[in-house]
Amino acid sequence: MRFTNGGCIMNTITRSAFIRQGSVFAVSVALLGCRHPVVSGHTSDCQTSADSLGPFYRAGAPLRADMRVAGDLGAPLNMDGIVYSDDCVTPLSGALVEVWQADGAGAYDNGSADFRYRASLNSGENGGYAFSTNLPGKYLNGGQFRPSHIHFRVTAEGHQSLVSQVYFENDTDIASDPWASSPEAEARILPVTESENGELQVNFDIYLVLAS
Ligand SMILES: [Fe+2]
Repeated sequence: MRFTNGGCIMNTITRSAFIRQGSVFAVSVALLGCRHPVVSGHTSDCQTSADSLGPFYRAGAPLRADMRVAGDLGAPLNMDGIVYSDDCVTPLSGALVEVWQADGAGAYDNGSADFRYRASLNSGENGGYAFSTNLPGKYLNGGQFRPSHIHFRVTAEGHQSLVSQVYFENDTDIASDPWASSPEAEARILPVTESENGELQVNFDIYLVLAS
């Protein structure tokens, strides 16, 4: 079963545009037509940019670092990173990192108690997080497939919540996807390497913004 992504529209003022406009305020992202609007500020060059929440977020995913389901489609993928504050260097422990994605066949688990391919993680003392999954499959958004992607929602005390998505280099569906091809997404199109055991490895460090 495939799902569309709800046709959300994202308007973003980039940091450079923000500076050019000489604005004092840092209100930068407005999501139109999505279920949950996102507003985030720009206070540093390292900030991780926001992306659409999409229609498939579910709160309350179990705390776990392994989302794999035996026998499912999708290459084994390991992902890790560090959650930082907006000075770009201070790691944040205890951040809640929620991730969700389609399975290898391109379907989201939108109702089961298993919360398949959904997880909550807490960043460790050094701000680190890591999880194992399978490479997400693609699903149709209207007439086009969305590129393979993983959704993130990151929450930390004293910081603005971040809703974003990551994509993978050399995915041929990035160019036709309005979210993945946005200039703001460029830093979230991530290199994929192969580890010694033959599994895919991706790194994604996350930089939050202080709450205003
Ligand atoms: Fe999605």
